[in-house]
Amino acid sequence: MALVIQNVKLAHRIHRLTVQGSYSARMGQFFMLRCWDTYPVLSRPISVHNLTEDSVSFLYRVHGTGTWLLSALQAGDKIQLEGPFGQGFPEPQGRTALVGGGIGVAPLLLAAKEIPDASVYLGYTSVPFGVTGFHEISRNVTVKSGGTIVDAVDPSRYDKIFACGPVAMLQALAKKVEGTHAELHVSIEKRMGCGIGACNSCTLTSAGASRKVCTDGPVFPAKEVNW
Ligand code: FAD
Ligand code: FES
Repeated sequence: MALVIQNVKLAHRIHRLTVQGSYSARMGQFFMLRCWDTYPVLSRPISVHNLTEDSVSFLYRVHGTGTWLLSALQAGDKIQLEGPFGQGFPEPQGRTALVGGGIGVAPLLLAAKEIPDASVYLGYTSVPFGVTGFHEISRNVTVKSGGTIVDAVDPSRYDKIFACGPVAMLQALAKKVEGTHAELHVSIEKRMGCGIGACNSCTLTSAGASRKVCTDGPVFPAKEVNW
């Protein structure tokens, strides 16, 4: 069990949870979180938002029972973290863009830290959240509130684009990237039972084969995803 250092509300239903401990994780990897005993049965997958020498933080949206229970945590409470799991984003090469929509901005802060010269695009349906951290790291941050952040991205300027957000946003970006030399890698969400490849609840078809989002992903090359 790990100790909660802070759990702050940043916007309506958006919280940032910071937990004590020295963890090592790659951008795009996730942990399975739980702060309850028996109900709900399953732990919840949440991406690593940030890491320091002695803490890990998660940016999450309150969705149902599990994330609601997470939102009630206070400094000094205990939480169970298992991970990090998954493959995360690949090694950056050349010019890189990071594109996040809504709560999909969560894994991109760690990516921005790992790739400080990346261009960052953050899109929100209404009030932006979690933006300050990006401004502290990256010089090139575009924030859009309303509309779609995909409109702001010119894929021809990049070699790699790492994206996380709603499926419609990822699909629109994949369409825009078609015919350019940019390689798009997308972080995919699927319901997860175990997080470690044992339950088969998170399969998708990628490159014509059945893959597990928890162990083969959650990041996949967009051109291999059967949307
Ligand atoms: P409920 O609807 O009560 O959950 C019921 C079941 O459905 C649970 O097993 C739950 O895990 C699953 N579920 C519901 N919505 C989702 C979803 N969108 N994706 C996957 N499983 C879901 N959310 C964040 O806010 N921040 C993050 O950084 C983040 N990272 C994620 C990384 C990965 C690899 C995945 C797969 C999902 C991530 N999510 C993230 C989504 C988050 O896991 C769900 O919002 C959360 O599990 C919902 O749980 P709940 O009990 O509040 O909702
Ligand atoms: Fe169990 Fe992926 S969550 S196999």
